Amino acid sequence: VKGGYETFMDKEIHEQPVAVADTLRGRVDERGEIQLDEMRIDPAVLRSVDKIIVIACGTAAYAGHVAKYAIEHWCRVPVEVELAHEFRYRDPVVSEKTLTVAISQSGETMDTIQAVRHAREQGSKVLAIVNTYGSTLAREADAVLYTHAGPEVAVASTKAFLAQITACYLLGLYLAQLRGNKWPDEVADYLAHLAQMPAKIQDLLDGQEERVRALGAELADKTSFLFLGRHVGYPVALEGALKLKELAYVHAEGFAAGELKHGPIALVEEGLPVFVIVPTPRRPLLHDKVVSNIQEVRARGARTIVIAEEGDLTVEPFADDVIRVPRTPTLMWPLLTVVPLQVFAAALARAKGLDIDQPRNLAKSVTVE
Ligand code: F6R
Repeated sequence: VKGGYETFMDKEIHEQPVAVADTLRGRVDERGEIQLDEMRIDPAVLRSVDKIIVIACGTAAYAGHVAKYAIEHWCRVPVEVELAHEFRYRDPVVSEKTLTVAISQSGETMDTIQAVRHAREQGSKVLAIVNTYGSTLAREADAVLYTHAGPEVAVASTKAFLAQITACYLLGLYLAQLRGNKWPDEVADYLAHLAQMPAKIQDLLDGQEERVRALGAELADKTSFLFLGRHVGYPVALEGALKLKELAYVHAEGFAAGELKHGPIALVEEGLPVFVIVPTPRRPLLHDKVVSNIQEVRARGARTIVIAEEGDLTVEPFADDVIRVPRTPTLMWPLLTVVPLQVFAAALARAKGLDIDQPRNLAKSVTVE
């Protein structure tokens, strides 16, 4: 059942190239246009949408957070990302011109289902991005865009996250195409980059997995970790911290790197491991700020573990470890940078002798509010 892997989580980490490829498959026609046959929401409604609200919990919400950066950039529509359990209780502003996008692996998360019901009552159309066929969310939504990640057995989500980002990106590019926000060749360009992601994820696993696993074992006695990221690296930092909490039961916190000096830097002390996700040097404004953050935490004694693009040598002087990731446009960066964080969390949990597939106190789907 585990396909030769020690755990389902290992298997599912290795299925990520296929999960992304399968989520893209059949959704781009020979002219390079996105065809979402399952999109049963009237194109006129989609053209008139003036706000998108993404509703989800946990890892799925981080996928939504990543998608916000892409969809706002491509479609020029404001995107709010809301934790499902906060949404319903705060009198949210929802109208017929709001598109609600619910993201869920299981399609059975009660918080998300209740939030979707509330949005529909306010007249919003609901699109569900779901992995499980025929699940409650899939049945209740106006349209479903399935992530074709295959069954996810390990409690901690991995391949569903990558498939959710991929599906959100298809949605964003589809809306941009429909609404004429982007020239067809720009959409085609992003689709081409997306199509390259499975091979890049595989290269990353082939090249870095062993080292990252060794690092997980080496740091198994640490009791606290920080994760810093900026732009799309920020939700990746949050996801990296969540994986470590869930699997290894250690304190881990993700921050927007720019927030460091507004408080969290007080936590930094000798030997504290800090992961930093560095943007591509081809975005120098973003890149250089994050590199200074590495310097700032290093100067206060942090053990810095830097995730950087292949060939980015500027990080070397300040990094205790560098995890190298294939070059890709910024918006594609999360599909790569999260992978070593998943591998690290699993390796650290393994070194502590913990049950990686079934962490304590957690259930695969949370069917109560
Ligand atoms: C984290 C994790 C959870 C789920 C969350 C939503 O590894 O698995 O945070 O992402 O409970 O679950 P779904 O996607 O089934 O709605």
